[in-house]
Amino acid sequence: LTIEEMQMRVTAIKERLGNALYIPGHHYQKDEVIQFADSTGDSLQLAQVSAKNQEAKYIVFCGVHFMAETADILTNDEQIVILPDMRAGCSMADMANMNQTEKCWEVLMDTFGDTIIPLTYVNSTAEIKAFVGKNGGATVTSSNATDMVKWAFTQKERILFLPDQHLGRNTAYSLGVPLEHMAVWNPIQGCFEHDGDLEDVKVILWKGHCSVHENFTVHNIKEVRETRPNMRIIVHPECSREVVALSDDAGSTKYIIDTINSAPPGSKWAIGTEMNLVKRIINQHPDKEIISLNQSMCPCLTMNRIDLPHLLWTLENIENGKIVNQIKVDNGIAVDALLALERMLHH
Ligand code: 13P
Ligand code: SF4
Repeated sequence: LTIEEMQMRVTAIKERLGNALYIPGHHYQKDEVIQFADSTGDSLQLAQVSAKNQEAKYIVFCGVHFMAETADILTNDEQIVILPDMRAGCSMADMANMNQTEKCWEVLMDTFGDTIIPLTYVNSTAEIKAFVGKNGGATVTSSNATDMVKWAFTQKERILFLPDQHLGRNTAYSLGVPLEHMAVWNPIQGCFEHDGDLEDVKVILWKGHCSVHENFTVHNIKEVRETRPNMRIIVHPECSREVVALSDDAGSTKYIIDTINSAPPGSKWAIGTEMNLVKRIINQHPDKEIISLNQSMCPCLTMNRIDLPHLLWTLENIENGKIVNQIKVDNGIAVDALLALERMLHH
């Protein structure tokens, strides 16, 4: 099939299925997919629209596995959530598993007693969300991390933040927690990486990271500052503390989009986030000079697994009465994970 034929087929199926079909699309998705999304957004917005939509029988989630799991947890039992390609995972979410988390929690309880609350970035498996929900904690996204960390400190003296050390560090630092009061937990070795006194530690950061955002470096920033002194630099808070500190601004994908949308014509921007989004922003703003902070562009390979052929294949199967790639979170896990998600959504 040619691209045009595939596009025509998707359009026709969408028309025939009407409200029975809903397609959320994350900002990092390819244009060939995003053109068919019923709503686009950052992780928080997509969680919110999934929770709101209780009508669509089929939710074909164009994003990665943990997002489809979240949609399944937030929708009702009759609704079917589908991920067009099961290989669309997230390497960061895979950096925290249950064994590691239980081991960490045991050590934290021994070390700090009942003075600690867990927070997990939504970029985590449903199982980890359930663990966090069961232990009184909540999920966070890059757009509400500040509010959620503030909330967590009203609950307990200390926070375990997993699995992204950078979002955790950047958020806690912006709220005034000194770096020496943060300790890194190494889940592979099952131990702290910390030189100072553990007594003073307020935030325990899980040693996980995003393999896309680690490609934005201090070197990239120096290069932009030297060659394009009038350019503003905006990055995602999954970038390291050093990179965020040297940038002019940082925020979620929605925040980056809104910032560029409201910037004056002629303004110059270097953006530190995933390639599909940066390319889209460049195309939508011919009146501005916009580049990727890392000139070689940084794709999220798993987000890119979702493409037009996979979307079409999924939709054709639905029409033929066959469900492929359904994401179904075990009920026992979903109940506890929902606690963590609701503490965030109702905050
Ligand atoms: P946001 O869209 O919430 O900023 O998340 C970015 C991301 O990496 C999703 O995997
Ligand atoms: Fe995961 Fe990073 Fe890809 Fe987001 S961009 S899905 S955090 S690997």
